[in-house]
Amino acid sequence: MPPNVVLTGFMGTGKTSVGRALAELLGRTFVDTDHLIELRHGSIPDIFARSGEDVFRGYERDTARALAEQEGLVISTGGRLMLDPINAELLGAAGRVFALTAPVHEILKRVLADIEGPPRPLLSGDDPENRIHRLLAERADGYGRFTIIDTQGREPTEIAADIANRLTAEPDRPEQDSDETDPTDSDEVATP
Ligand code: S3P
Repeated sequence: MPPNVVLTGFMGTGKTSVGRALAELLGRTFVDTDHLIELRHGSIPDIFARSGEDVFRGYERDTARALAEQEGLVISTGGRLMLDPINAELLGAAGRVFALTAPVHEILKRVLADIEGPPRPLLSGDDPENRIHRLLAERADGYGRFTIIDTQGREPTEIAADIANRLTAEPDRPEQDSDETDPTDSDEVATP
């Protein structure tokens, strides 16, 4: 079995739709960590409200550990999962990791339009744009350790084809080695 392909990146960068398209293209099984957690523990907003963020992060760790024992998957991860060093070590050792990016205005538009997915507790309340800016600033270095894939103006199928090409061209590329855009260049372009 080939190593897993792991997608990380901020909320609203398209990890789930790209992951689905990539799994279809590669003929692999697709899994989404938020979905797995919801199947076991109930909705994400309920987990945050009932038990707090730390408990949710613990569920993410359990999920990362379980998925790292499998191969051949396309894994879409919750926006912060791969920023936990233990999770990054586990899933990075067993797979190729790509960080999807988009500009802040695009993230905001996608998050507000995403009425099918689970609500994002970290962006609820007043001024989600400001929260996006703040969280992105905190997370930019973390996402920047992975191979950056810009999603702006591109369809999920096109992004999936790009990732598939990179897998073929660089099958053994090590993780923790970002190329292309420096996500700290500008907060408008940087998504991470
Ligand atoms: C989170 C992102 C969400 C979900 C949770 C927390 C984050 O997943 O895991 O609401 O901290 O970035 P998506 O990135 O799939 O929205």
